[in-house]
Amino acid sequence: MILRSVEELPLKPGNRVLVRVDYNIPVNEEGLITDDARIKGTVDTLQYILGKGAIPIIISHWGRPQGDPHPDKSLARVVPELQKILHHRVNFLAQPFAETTRASVAASQSDELFLLENLRFHAGERTNDAEFARALAAYADYYVNDAFPVSHRKQASVSALPSLFKTPAAGFSLLREVEYFSRLIHAPEKPYVVIIGGRKIEDKVRSLRFLLDKVDEVLVGGASAFTVLRARGFQVGYSLVNEDLIDEMDDIADSEKVKLPTDFIAAPSYAEPDKSEVVPAHAFPEDLQGFDIGPETTKAFCSSVLEASTVLWFGPLGAYEERAFSKGSLEVTRAMAEATKKGATTVTGGGDSLAMLRLFSFKDSLSHASIGGGACLKFMEGAELPGIAPLVKER
Ligand code: 3PG
Repeated sequence: MILRSVEELPLKPGNRVLVRVDYNIPVNEEGLITDDARIKGTVDTLQYILGKGAIPIIISHWGRPQGDPHPDKSLARVVPELQKILHHRVNFLAQPFAETTRASVAASQSDELFLLENLRFHAGERTNDAEFARALAAYADYYVNDAFPVSHRKQASVSALPSLFKTPAAGFSLLREVEYFSRLIHAPEKPYVVIIGGRKIEDKVRSLRFLLDKVDEVLVGGASAFTVLRARGFQVGYSLVNEDLIDEMDDIADSEKVKLPTDFIAAPSYAEPDKSEVVPAHAFPEDLQGFDIGPETTKAFCSSVLEASTVLWFGPLGAYEERAFSKGSLEVTRAMAEATKKGATTVTGGGDSLAMLRLFSFKDSLSHASIGGGACLKFMEGAELPGIAPLVKER
């Protein structure tokens, strides 16, 4: 699958380019941005367009407003951060469809850059409305999608909008994501190891099934492991389990490729890390809950990673935010970094993985840390994403 790149657009000074980005970024309780990876990821594309003398008109969603304006979900908060990272003035358009706004964009000159208010303040975005897409298209000569994390959504700015342009193209961040994930599906170097962690195994089951015959080993940790252990007939105390899935995962539970933890760090509760202890998976105490993989499992997972030529990792292996439950994730992250140095291709996906790498200060130590969550999983199910299909120039 070859996508049309932004570099193939015949951009001329003064051309207007709608750039779909994903500035759906995490903020803390005070509303301060806690991870700017998604903003930084768009810099190459925006600078490239500006370098051609063309005018980027940035569009994005933030949060999940249902078609009405919400002041606390305004993209205005991104402006200072974007200006700082891009070293460029950003004109924020709070009323994207007002006549005055249209006039100011129409009168703009090379070197200007605009950011439109949150697209999800309009019902047409979520419903993939053609009229809403046409209203956006009227702004520009070209369309670029650099928003991999939202490309699995059939929404106007990623799905209906590109089809209104002759040559919808991909930005550099999206191209990088698709290149890595395509390679992991079609041409992974062997041995190929997939690590599944995180709380919600239900989100990963389809990708796991799709990947099972392509990979050599699947290491399952985090809360995801407890559901598979139960499907294999083990008791797991009162660890987090998806009861609805237990009877539906025989294929996964029975697969010899799927490796489960042999020991855990368990405690009476998350709030009692000082009472944590190492417990064997085959004799899990009924009054404890698992919060991390144990030392024996950590060693085994690390050696699998170090022997692999390709590793794909979705989701932390424990409740890594608490120091007492972070060791498994931290050691495996270190092994990933070491494997990368030795030449392996190492990729992580999902918001939790990115936050974990950031906390451990390992964000730039792997081959690729995706900024996508649901989009990575959808891509790794073998699905064609609605935001990527219109950008394909050759299959
Ligand atoms: C994400 O953060 O996963 C994307 O921005 C998509 O957001 P959504 O799940 O609200 O559509």
